[in-house]
Amino acid sequence: MAVAPVTYGSSTRPPRGDYSEARDDYTCEQHWERYTPEEHTMYARLFERQIKRAPGQACEEFIAAVGELGTADHIPRFESISDSLHRATGWQVVAVPGLIPEHSFFSLLAHRRFPVTVWLRSPAEFDYIVEPDVFHDLYGHVPLLFNPVFADYMQAFGRGGLKAQGLQALEYLARLYWYTVEFGLIATNRGLRVYGAGVLSSVGETHYALSSPGPLRLAFDLKRVLRTPYKIDDYQLAYFVVESFSQLFDATAPDFSPLYAEIADQPVLPVDSTLHGERTYPPNAGKVVVA
Ligand code: PHE
Ligand code: FE
Repeated sequence: MAVAPVTYGSSTRPPRGDYSEARDDYTCEQHWERYTPEEHTMYARLFERQIKRAPGQACEEFIAAVGELGTADHIPRFESISDSLHRATGWQVVAVPGLIPEHSFFSLLAHRRFPVTVWLRSPAEFDYIVEPDVFHDLYGHVPLLFNPVFADYMQAFGRGGLKAQGLQALEYLARLYWYTVEFGLIATNRGLRVYGAGVLSSVGETHYALSSPGPLRLAFDLKRVLRTPYKIDDYQLAYFVVESFSQLFDATAPDFSPLYAEIADQPVLPVDSTLHGERTYPPNAGKVVVA
């Protein structure tokens, strides 16, 4: 059954990926046997480069689980990751051809199924890729699904996404996704660490996010996040810092409906300056290299 291909909002770029064999829910086969030796090698190089900078930068929940992705020398089979992930937290990874519609995405999350893009970036995109590929999705997102609290947060997000669609509130939820799941920082007693997939899978942004004097690091506040726009084509101007995944889960557990109604008429908040009395975190100490 063929489904319609998906691209980012107003993009005129042709969609990546083959949607012709996707099912109605946009999942497909991984077809692991189709990866070339060059692709396995490039995945291994991407993995090695990122894992080297993980100690001292990635949060401990990520470091504890990244080994579950298997040996880094080839693109893993999604099925084998799903086996151990399902035992750990009841989640599974499923293959998708690329970006999928919001409704399909949230439905999968609500059923504890995380969609992972099957294709790998081209060699020209080694350092930077606009759309999520198999490396970003696996390395960035899957390790934290082994953490029980984060796993529950992601499912709650799926359910919340389905609800927000009916309330015309997806824009707000997209900001929450961006500032937590993709670009979130966590404060530990050894300093700030990264848990957001977009940062974990990026070459330069880990150091920038944690240690550069440039960006703001704001204490997580739900309403502030929902009202703060973001950019998708450059390093962030602001990051939001949680103290724990439980804090994140608890802060987002209440029904958002009244909140959506309350902020619907309110203007967006600045991403490059603090509001009166707003708490920020200093960058991690140590040699600062602005990337
Ligand atoms: N509590 C939110 C709601 O009622 C759902 C949600 C949970 C959204 C966690 C995002 C993250 O809409
Ligand atoms: Fe992502």
